[in-house]
Amino acid sequence: MTRTPIMAGNWKMNLDHLEAAHLVQSLAWNLTDVEHDYEAVEVVVVPPFTDIRTVQTLIEGDNLKIRYGAQDVSTHDEGAYTGEVSTSMLTKLGCSYVVVGHSERREYHGETNELVGRKAKKALDAGLTPIMCCGEALEVRKAGEHVSFVLAQIDAMLAGLSGEEVAKSVIAYEPIWAIGTGEVATPEDAQEVCGAIRGRIAELYDEGAAEAVRIQYGGSVKSSNVRDIMAKPDVDGALVGGASLKADEFTKIVTFTK
Ligand code: PGA
Repeated sequence: MTRTPIMAGNWKMNLDHLEAAHLVQSLAWNLTDVEHDYEAVEVVVVPPFTDIRTVQTLIEGDNLKIRYGAQDVSTHDEGAYTGEVSTSMLTKLGCSYVVVGHSERREYHGETNELVGRKAKKALDAGLTPIMCCGEALEVRKAGEHVSFVLAQIDAMLAGLSGEEVAKSVIAYEPIWAIGTGEVATPEDAQEVCGAIRGRIAELYDEGAAEAVRIQYGGSVKSSNVRDIMAKPDVDGALVGGASLKADEFTKIVTFTK
């Protein structure tokens, strides 16, 4: 099976809705210019909640092939959950993806693997594709325990999901020490963990699920390093933070094969 590479821009808490429109428009123009094949490399933007309606209007209005999603989602359907956003609110806005368990949510909002797994399940039930994040802190890497640490996260996050559900999901391996630091993992570092994750999914489920699931690397991905990272056999895409906020730079990342 050949997996379609997926390049996703996680904007984090950046860009208001006007800036969002500008960025999506610039990105779309750039990609038209270079005749980007969206079937060959999938392009996803993940704006803040407040920008999603604007992004939807633009993408649907201009019939763009860029997909989009949200940075988090609630495990509840509706009701007294101040500040939360439900899966049905996201699907109504045409979202395809939702990032769950980003390290910043784990760190600042105390999200656990168990909660992240429930968010992923909720997303899948609604027809959204979860981008499930995992990754180790610097101390764990220095202790040489990064593979076992990440695999324990995987075991816990996937506990409530079937092989079919995992097969259509995306997993993002993002070593925390490489996020927003300019410190990028080497392509070999990325491959080591992404390969181990795929191996674990084969053990937990079967080869079919392992071959189908797409695994991204994230952490200081830029146009200058994306090619070597994407050349690794178990890396199927990138989750890009800072570099996704600039249309020209993100265009180069998305078109890494050129
Ligand atoms: P970065 O962020 O590309 O700015 O390092 C990646 C992420 O946190 O998804």
